[in-house]
Amino acid sequence: MKVNGKHYRTVWLEGKIVKMVNQPLLPHSFKIYSTNNYRETANAIRTMVVRGAGAIGASAGFAMAQAVLEAKETNYKKYIEDALKTIKATRPTAQNLFYAVDRVYSLIKDEKNLAVAKKVAVDTANTIANEDSDACRRIGELGEKLIKDNDSILTHCNAGWLAFVDYGSALSPIYLAVRNKKRVFVYVDETRPRCQGAKLTSWELNNEKVANTVIADNAAGFFMQQGKINLVITGADRIVANGDTANKIGTYEKAVLAKENGIPFYIAAPTSTIDIKTKSGKDIPIEERDEGEVLYMFGVDDKDRKCRVRIAPKQSKAKNPAFDVTPAKYIKGIITEKGIIKADDESIKNLF
Ligand code: MRU
Repeated sequence: MKVNGKHYRTVWLEGKIVKMVNQPLLPHSFKIYSTNNYRETANAIRTMVVRGAGAIGASAGFAMAQAVLEAKETNYKKYIEDALKTIKATRPTAQNLFYAVDRVYSLIKDEKNLAVAKKVAVDTANTIANEDSDACRRIGELGEKLIKDNDSILTHCNAGWLAFVDYGSALSPIYLAVRNKKRVFVYVDETRPRCQGAKLTSWELNNEKVANTVIADNAAGFFMQQGKINLVITGADRIVANGDTANKIGTYEKAVLAKENGIPFYIAAPTSTIDIKTKSGKDIPIEERDEGEVLYMFGVDDKDRKCRVRIAPKQSKAKNPAFDVTPAKYIKGIITEKGIIKADDESIKNLF
């Protein structure tokens, strides 16, 4: 994606340093954040400097490569195993993280020649990032065909360029439709508690000159009833063997509402998000985040200084599951880089 006329990926490796768009500063300022070692990269994933399934996956692959670059012959095995554990412990739900870390690790764990291991780790991490970008471009090409002129599309959270290495998943078809001169309007769920919709998706859409409006999370049903939304596309953090899909909290209720209102609900995701070993959505680990994200709103003041505002009473507690699972029966189709498939066991198995 281009920002101020320059093409950026969301995350990339320069020598031993991982560079990433500093997402918590958006939409107020666009800055690049650097991590010097695998622990710093793992921390950036944990604290959501980088977030979104594909971007987390690419960052995790790069973190694993950093670990191999840092390891010495004397501590190799222990060093990369510690790295594997540390990176995997950052965020539990997005399948892309486990896919990327395991893919790098499996190729270097038994390598005796350290120089070879370093090259393989860096090449593999870069391949994972390139594949993520290619898959999202292809998702755009396939998904664009679902979009008609004058469509009004609802999306939830941020499954755009910022959530991947480039292009995005749910937003990639929308960007291509607009480039192909289709008139498209996007309803953006604000996506409490971290507001990835209001902060990131609206910023991306404005940057790409796509007409959009942010709506409160609880307003989607109102606009559906009024006939203002005729298509829903969201991303996914993990799709399991039977098609059940984990995505940002609030996705499930949008899918149920879409079904009630006769609106097609699509998931867009690369095949690296599919966890074929897990049978049903009940077994997806759901991240529980800090209650402060619910009890406060985070933003900037009129002078662009970071600030937070408490909403709930001081003595209030909060629960903060970061994802929910949409049962396959609500999903009209999954837009992958290999085709648009039904959300069922057989269609998913056929992809592999
Ligand atoms: O917690 P995040 O911001 O990393 O959540 C991931 C998401 O942005 C969404 O769930 C998204 O729709 C799937 S990731 C492309």
